[in-house]
This record gives sequence, C-alpha cells and structure tokens, in this order.
Amino acid sequence: MNKNQNKLKIGLLGAGTVGSGVVKALQNNDFVEIKKIGVKDLNKKRDFFTNLNSNNPALTGNLSEIVSDPEIGIVVEVLGGLNPAKELVTLAIKNKKHIVTANKDLIATYGPELFDLAKENNVQIQFEASVCGGIPIINTLKQTLSANNFKKITGIFNGTTNYILTEMLNKNLSFEVCLKEAQELGYAEPDPANDISGRDSAYKIAILASIAFRERIKIDTVYTEGIQKITLEDILLAEELGYRLKLIGLAKKESDGKIDIRVHPAFIKKTNTLSSVFGANNGVLVEGDLVGELTLIGKGAGSMPTASSVAGDINLLVAQISSSQKPNPQFVCQHTDFAKIRPVSETTNCYFLRIRTEDKAGVVGQIGTMFGKHDVSINTLTQRGTNQDNTASITLLTHLVKEERLQRALAEIKNTNVVKQVENVIRVLD
Ligand SMILES: NC(=O)c1ccc[n+]([C@@H]2O[C@H](COP(=O)([O-])OP(=O)(O)OC[C@H]3O[C@@H](n4cnc5c(N)ncnc54)[C@H](OP(=O)(O)O)[C@@H]3O)[C@@H](O)[C@H]2O)c1
Repeated sequence: MNKNQNKLKIGLLGAGTVGSGVVKALQNNDFVEIKKIGVKDLNKKRDFFTNLNSNNPALTGNLSEIVSDPEIGIVVEVLGGLNPAKELVTLAIKNKKHIVTANKDLIATYGPELFDLAKENNVQIQFEASVCGGIPIINTLKQTLSANNFKKITGIFNGTTNYILTEMLNKNLSFEVCLKEAQELGYAEPDPANDISGRDSAYKIAILASIAFRERIKIDTVYTEGIQKITLEDILLAEELGYRLKLIGLAKKESDGKIDIRVHPAFIKKTNTLSSVFGANNGVLVEGDLVGELTLIGKGAGSMPTASSVAGDINLLVAQISSSQKPNPQFVCQHTDFAKIRPVSETTNCYFLRIRTEDKAGVVGQIGTMFGKHDVSINTLTQRGTNQDNTASITLLTHLVKEERLQRALAEIKNTNVVKQVENVIRVLD
C-alpha cells in the first residue's frame, strides 16, 4: 500500500497491557490507523492518549460497534479470555474483517471453528502474539521453516513459572515465597492458577503443535501438570545430578502418527539450550529435518514485546490486502483433521523420584527389588541421610521406562510399610 493513500482503519478490542502497547507501536505507522478502541471502563486514565499527536481514536464501551463498523478492515482482539472475545471475533469475521489476536485461550479452544469461519468469509486470522509474546515462533514455523518436517518442539512457554523456578534456584527460596514475590512485582497474576497449573503452557504447545504437525489438537487432550509440588530440594537435586528443573511443554510426532504432547516439570540436561532460559523469558527449541535444532529465546510477555508481534501481524495483513492477491497459503490454516494423541501412560521417559522411607537396614534393597519386579531399571539410587522424624530420604533416577509400568511399580511401593511417602516424581528428558 502506498503510504499516501488513505490509511487502513483498525478497530482495537482492549487497551490494557498489550492494547496500550499496540497503540504506541502503531503511532507512526504509515499505512494503518486505529479508528476505535473498545474498553470496559471508559473513565480509566489511558497514558497513551497523552502521547498521541494526531487525532485520538474514539474510545467506546460498545464493542459490537467496532466489529460492525464498515470502515474498519482489521479487528485486533487483545481483551483476553473467551467471553466476549469469541463472540466479537466471530461477528467481526462474519462482517469480513481480518483478525489479529494475542489470545491463546481463544485460539487453543476455538481455533478450528474460527479458522473454518474465516475461510468461509475469505478473511485471515493472525495470532503471532498468542504464543511466547515477542518471540516470532508462529510465522517462523508457518513460513521460514515451512520446508521442514518437524520432529519435535520443546519450550519454556510461561514466564511466570520460569521466573519462580529461577528465583528459587538463585536465592534458595521456597515456591511460596517466590510466587508471592512474583505477584508483588507483577510477573504473576493475583490469581496465578493458569500459569502455575501449566494450563497456559498447554494452550501454547497445542497451538504450536497444530501448526508444526498440520493437525488440530483438542486442548483437553494435552496432558498437563504444573509446578505446585516442586520444592527447593527438587531444584537443588536436579543441579547436583547435572540437570536443571524447568516447566516444559513438548510435542513430538511419532512413527505411528500419534502426537506425544504434554506439559510438566522436567529435569533437562544443562547442555540443552533451554536450561539457560532464565527469569521471565521464554524459549522454544524446534527440531526440523532440514534446519536441525533451532532455539528462539526472548520476552514471552510484556506490553511492547507482545505489541511487536501484534503490529507485525498487522503489517503482514496490510501487505497482503494491498497486493490484492489471494492470501499467502502459508499464513492460512489449511488442515482440518484432529490429531491422534498418545496418552501420557504410553510415553517412555526416565524419572527422578524422591521417596521417604523407614530408616532401617534392607529398605534400599527392598525398593530395588520392587522396581525390578515391574521391570523398572534403576540408574542411580542414593540414600541422602536421616530426617528428624527418623525417616530416610532416598533419591532415584530410572532408566527409560514406560510411564504405566512406573505407575504400577509406584502403586505397589506406596502400599508397603517401609515407604512413608513418595514425595515427588519428575520426568527426565533426554
Ligand atoms: N500481558 C501480556 O504480556 C501478554 C502477552 C502475550 C499475550 N497476551 C494476551 O493478550 C490478551 C490481553 O492481555 P492483557 O495483559 O493486555 O490484558 P489486560 O491488561 O487485562 O487488558 C484487557 C483489556 O480488555 C478490556 N476488556 C476486558 N474485558 C472487556 C469487556 N468485557 N468489555 C470491554 N473491554 C474489556 C479491558 O478494559 P479496561 O482497560 O477498561 O479494563 C482492558 O483494556 C490476553 O489474551 C493475553 O493472554 C498478553
């Protein structure tokens, strides 16, 4: 589009952390201008208005007015959550507006339905900011790496939990103390459930897996475990054993066509590039048959990094709209089939176990025998001293074993008199 032509009109749904960044990022854009901004509270002070030098966009509490405005060509949805985001995006698509969204809940939950509707209405949905904020992973997978067959995607997708795990490691503090600190600094929401439980990471790995493996993923089929049970002891033991504890999302396509997709805390080797993703940063490790291993690390959240991705999507749409050609097929959802998912019980992993037992002769031998009975082969087993309550702390690393086999062994072990508690079970990634 020639910058002297009339600018394309944008309707912005939401002007919070991301929306206000988008307003700033588009301030000097030669090709687009924000016509209307939809918010909940019209009386809230908006710092971006004082910085704008041209005509201010109109602020409205009536968001339907934005999605039905015939002058608006692109609707940018940065409200968050499913309602009213889904209804408004649906209406906007039916009104032939292109969509840019940062909303992973929306894409991971209703993506298939919305992409089908967008195809019917000949408009596009761009959602780069929905995964890892400022890291350009989605369009990298869709376009730059599109010649690859992807084997595996592994990532640290949640800045809040990564910040907590980093603080626990660096400052020798408990989970509870670090969560409180993260909330005080604004890295964690007052209700951190979505982050801590792994749900937020599940949305993101589901979105990336569906792009990489060209199959749709139902969000509830992603096995998800959070960091609520992680203790400082687990983090320090990981370091001692040559690993680092991270909340990992991973997806891999296996030879039978099933996708192993899950989110859980994991010991990863210190040689893995993701082990040096610290603080609130995110990282994604992509394995493609042509490119090999490629890691992208950067800010997974924040006003301007996320606005960078949103504004990039807007520029992409503007370029396509102005060329008056059909949309580049690489940027349009082409797949329709749902993936076959491998249940976590069928996955094969190494495991780290922390067990509290009676402190008496023969216990270690008994535990070894019980694991052996279920064909769980032990790599290392260490008794780490006696606790104040006269119990012993034992740590174990297993060799590769199918999860259901390990769970069967654990069920039996938990029922013996000598075992007081299986304190934690953490998967170890190769
Ligand atoms: N924050 C990040 O760093 C980040 C990073 C990547 C992706 N995202 C995604 O970006 C989206 C927005 O996140 P955010 O952090 O910017 O959220 P936020 O700060 O809470 O802002 C939400 C905005 O939407 C408006 N809004 C919410 N519900 C509304 C309703 N029912 N009617 C009218 N307006 C409504 C709010 O209006 P008021 O201003 O009047 O309250 C506010 O302006 C989410 O999907 C999030 O997952 C965020």
